[in-house]
Amino acid sequence: MFIIMFLFLIESIQEYCEPYGVRLFLGHYYTNLKIETDALRIVFNTKNQCNKQFQVFIKGDQEFNITTYKTKFLNMTDIYVGTKANIEYETYIHTFQIPIQQTSRILYALKNNDKLIKEAQVKLPQLQQDTTKVLFFGDMDSRWLFNRSKQTFDWFEEQINQNIEYDSLLFTGDMAYDLESDNCERGELWISRISLFTSQYPFMISPGNHDGGFDYKQTFLREHFQMLYLTEYDTQNYQNDFYSFNIGMVHFIQYDPVMIVYKADPNNYIKNRLLSQFRNDLSKAVQNREEVPWIVVFTHYPIYCNFMDDDQCVNNFKYLAEFEKLFQEFHVDLYVSGHQHNYQRNQPYYQNHSVSYQIDGNIYYNYESPITIIEGAGGADYGPEIMIYNDQPYTAKQLAQNGVGLLQVMNKTHLQFQHIRVSTNQVMDEIWIMKTYDKEKDNSFEYWIITIIICAIVIVLALFIFIFVKYKGRKSKTYQKAMDNLV
Ligand SMILES: *[C@@H]1O[C@H](CO)[C@@H](O)[C@H](O)[C@H]1NC(C)=O
Ligand SMILES: *[C@@H]1O[C@H](CO)[C@@H](O)[C@H](O)[C@H]1NC(C)=O
Ligand SMILES: *[C@@H]1O[C@H](CO)[C@@H](O)[C@H](O)[C@H]1NC(C)=O
Ligand SMILES: *[C@@H]1O[C@H](CO)[C@@H](O)[C@H](O)[C@H]1NC(C)=O
Ligand SMILES: *[C@@H]1O[C@H](CO)[C@@H](O)[C@H](O)[C@H]1NC(C)=O
Repeated sequence: MFIIMFLFLIESIQEYCEPYGVRLFLGHYYTNLKIETDALRIVFNTKNQCNKQFQVFIKGDQEFNITTYKTKFLNMTDIYVGTKANIEYETYIHTFQIPIQQTSRILYALKNNDKLIKEAQVKLPQLQQDTTKVLFFGDMDSRWLFNRSKQTFDWFEEQINQNIEYDSLLFTGDMAYDLESDNCERGELWISRISLFTSQYPFMISPGNHDGGFDYKQTFLREHFQMLYLTEYDTQNYQNDFYSFNIGMVHFIQYDPVMIVYKADPNNYIKNRLLSQFRNDLSKAVQNREEVPWIVVFTHYPIYCNFMDDDQCVNNFKYLAEFEKLFQEFHVDLYVSGHQHNYQRNQPYYQNHSVSYQIDGNIYYNYESPITIIEGAGGADYGPEIMIYNDQPYTAKQLAQNGVGLLQVMNKTHLQFQHIRVSTNQVMDEIWIMKTYDKEKDNSFEYWIITIIICAIVIVLALFIFIFVKYKGRKSKTYQKAMDNLV
C-alpha cells in the first residue's frame, strides 16, 4: 500500500516537473543595453518548483552546459484572491539566458535531469548581418474551436521541416482569446501549442486588447512572454509598454497604446510617458542610421483600418496623432499592426490625409510617412471569420485569407514585405521599400555639374588671358622692333 502510494507520489512529482511551453525570446543583447550574456532566453513552465534539475546544452562557438536558471513562481490565485475572477492557478516559469555566440546558428538541448525535452537548431541573429528575415502575424488562438488557426500552425510546421530560418517572429497581439479564461487553461493550452514554433524561433510580442486579463494588468501575458523593458522604463505601472531592439539593419520598436485608444488615460499620463520614451528612443536610433537605416514600428493597434463600425478605425489617427507625428519626424519606414482580422496595406497617410510618396510598380520611395500594414490574419476562433471591408481612401490592398507577413531587409536600401497565404504558401501581396537617397544623389550630381562648369569657365578664362598676354607681348615686341628699326 505504502509502496503504491510512494510510486504514485514519485510519478506525480515527475509529471509536475515535466517542462511544457518551451519558448525563445531575444534578450537585452539586442537592445541599447547590449548585454552579451543575454542574447537568447529559453523559457518553459512546470507545475512544481523542481529545483536544480534542468540544464541546457549549447553548441555555438563552443560547447557548454548551463545549469543555472531563474525560476519565477506565478500565483494567479493570489493575484485574484477576493475578486470575482474565480481563478485558482499556479505555475513555475523557468528562464535560461544564453550568451551571444559568434556563430549565427546554434544548437540547444533542454534536459530534465538526463531526459531530453527539446533539441533544436536555431538562428541566432547577429547585430551585423546582411539580411534580416522576420515574420509578422497576430490575432490568433489555438483552441481548435473552428480551427481557424490550424492552417497557420501547419504552415509553421512545414517551415520547420524545411529548415527555413527566421530571425524572429513578431506577434501583433491578441492571443488565446483569452489567456486567463477557463481558469488560465486557455493560456496554458496556447503556450503549449505554439511551442511548436516558439521553441524554434524567438517570439517577440506586442500585447493586444484581448491580452489584458481580468484586471487588465496583463499579468499572465507579462510573466509568460518576455518583453525587453529597459530598467529605466520598468516602473510599477503596467501600461508602461515600450521596448525596442536591433537585428541587423533594422531597429524594431514595440509600443502598446491600449489605454490611449480605449480612452482610459484621462490625464494623458500614459500617453506623455510613452511619447517621451518614443522620442528618446527614436533620437538615439536616427543617430545610428548609417549602420541601422530601417525603423519598423509594431503594435496591436492600426492607425488606419476599414471596419468603420469600430471607433478605432474612425478615430485612431486622432488618438495616436502625436505618435504619428513622431513617425513622420523621424522617418519611420514601416508600421505593422493587428487588431482587424485581415491583411491590409495602406498608402502613406498622415492625419487622415494622403501625403507625398512615390511608387514605381510595387516599389515605394520618398515617402513622407510610413507605409502601414495590418497583419491580423493568424486565425482567431473569436469574432467573425477573416473578412474584407469597404475600401477607404487610404486602402491599397485587402485580403481575407489566413496569412503571415514576411519582412526581409535585403540591405541598406532595399526592404521587401510579402503577405503569404498560409493554406497555399503563396505570396498574395508584395511591396518593396526603397531608400533612394535621391536628394543626396541629385545634390551631388548638381554639385559635380556646377564644379565642372566652373572649372571649364576658369580654364577658358585662363586660356584667354594667356593668349591675350602672349599676343599683347608679341605685339609690343613687334612694336619695339619696328621702333628700333626706325631709330
Ligand atoms: C554537458 O553535460 C553532459 C551531462 O549532462 C556531459 O555529458 C557533457 O560532457 C557536458 N558537456 C560539456 C561541454 O561540458
Ligand atoms: C497562492 O495564493 C493563494 C491565495 O493567496 C494561497 O492560498 C496559496 O498558498 C499560494 N500558493 C503558494 C504555493 O504559495
Ligand atoms: C479541428 O481539428 C481537430 C484536429 O485536427 C479535429 O479533431 C476537429 O474535428 C476540428 N474541428 C472542426 C470544427 O473542424
Ligand atoms: C477622414 O477623411 C475622410 C475622407 O477621406 C472623411 O470622410 C472622414 O470624415 C475623415 N475622418 C474624420 C474623423 O475626420
Ligand atoms: C540591395 O538589394 C537589392 C535587392 O536584392 C539589390 O537589387 C541591390 O543591388 C542591393 N544593393 C546593394 C548595394 O547591394
